[in-house]
Amino acid sequence: MDKFIITGGVPLKGEITVAGAKNVALKILVASLLTDEEMVVHNVPLIRDVDLMLDVLAVLGVKYSRDGHTIHVTHNHIHNAKVPLDVAARLRTSSMILGPLLARYGAATTPNPGGCRLGARPIDRHINALKEMGADIQYHSDDGYFYAKAKELHGATIRFPKNTHTGTETLLLAAVLARGRTILENAAQEPEIDDLIACLTQMGANIRRSAPRTIVIEGAKKLHGTEYSIMADRNEEVTFAIAGVVTAGDVIIKNSSRHNLGAFLDVYQRAGGKFQEIDDRTTRYYTDGYLTATDIVTHPHPGFMTDWQAPWAVLMTQANGISCIHETVFESRFSYVSQLLKMGAHIEFFDPDVEDPETFYNFNWADRVEGYHQGITIRGPTTLHNAVLEINDLRAGATLVLAALVAAGESVIHGVEQVDRGYEKIEERLRALGARIQRIKEE
Ligand code: EPU
Repeated sequence: MDKFIITGGVPLKGEITVAGAKNVALKILVASLLTDEEMVVHNVPLIRDVDLMLDVLAVLGVKYSRDGHTIHVTHNHIHNAKVPLDVAARLRTSSMILGPLLARYGAATTPNPGGCRLGARPIDRHINALKEMGADIQYHSDDGYFYAKAKELHGATIRFPKNTHTGTETLLLAAVLARGRTILENAAQEPEIDDLIACLTQMGANIRRSAPRTIVIEGAKKLHGTEYSIMADRNEEVTFAIAGVVTAGDVIIKNSSRHNLGAFLDVYQRAGGKFQEIDDRTTRYYTDGYLTATDIVTHPHPGFMTDWQAPWAVLMTQANGISCIHETVFESRFSYVSQLLKMGAHIEFFDPDVEDPETFYNFNWADRVEGYHQGITIRGPTTLHNAVLEINDLRAGATLVLAALVAAGESVIHGVEQVDRGYEKIEERLRALGARIQRIKEE
């Protein structure tokens, strides 16, 4: 249990290199279950979620070794297809083992997943799709486990009722070794999924996107090991870009993937943010000092990602006018608001006018928390002041770090292990940009 002590008010300036994408690293580690040959994965971020995924795989019998940002993974046979509750509860993606284990070994037992508590976060779309491929999956409410088995997974044409990022990936991980052809319709389009597809293709899988939201997979008998370097983390880039701009600084981001940030850059420019393409993989983010309140509505890719809305809210506290954020992907992603209010932000909740919420929202409307709002308005610019803050989820954590970097005075942020889930050594990297941030070990 560590805390950050941050003294805000310093414009962040300098260069920062974006780490490998968390949301690819986790999935490629799960993909290692598809082969008994060695997988060598490069550019793996040193973050807590990767450690947790390695714990999940180790329980299953996977051996691994690490050398900096490279991980070597091998396994000959899964000796235990059951993920213990305490390991799984800490990592939502642990349930993705259902895909490869059903395809290769015909059985898997895994608890209802944990991870960031962003509302109900069920996995009904994953489970129903696996059933269409011939899996028998029973949920035991007494112990909270999914018990899954399949004599042989077969191809199927599966239409996801709504977008699901990890659902699409779980099905890919099952379909690559299933008998025959699987077609995933209304599949998710995030670039991280295409990076997973590129790795699976190198392993010998036959996968193509026949349309932006349609993926066709021809099942293979066997996949082999490979060496793969994962893409840069888009969410880190957005976080650091906002960190630079919101502190009135000037930040150069290396390992940039701005080609995958179109929706962010559109709104960012409308708000008065500037960027300069230094080269293919290097982007400078800065402003001329004036930001305009700009509304966003979150959507799955290629829209404005839900992961960016919390950092965006901090930026909007420094913009002129009233802006709105309408969250449509998760039903509970404003946990940071109560903390920003403590710092003097002017934020109010509202209920956006939506004609048919069940169709409009990406989450299942029936799962929503009664009384929870999907919209906020932010009035700026505001001089934020220091506070003692509590982190509730990963992106909210990074958001509070940004807010404390802006605020006058010394802020204390508890629960930084949430930030460690997805950002490698964030304090050291921000310090290199001039931030006054210290990690204090708590007993
Ligand atoms: N949903 C269901 N049932 C399902 C699947 C999803 O109701 O079977 C709901 C979810 O509760 C959510 C919405 O549908 O409200 C979208 O869920 P999706 O499955 O697309 O998201 P995810 O796979 O759980 C991943 C990322 C998130 C990112 C979202 C959106 C990983 C490990 N997580 O979550 O990243 O915000 O896609 O792109 O890839 C993060 O990195 O901090 C993070 C939360």
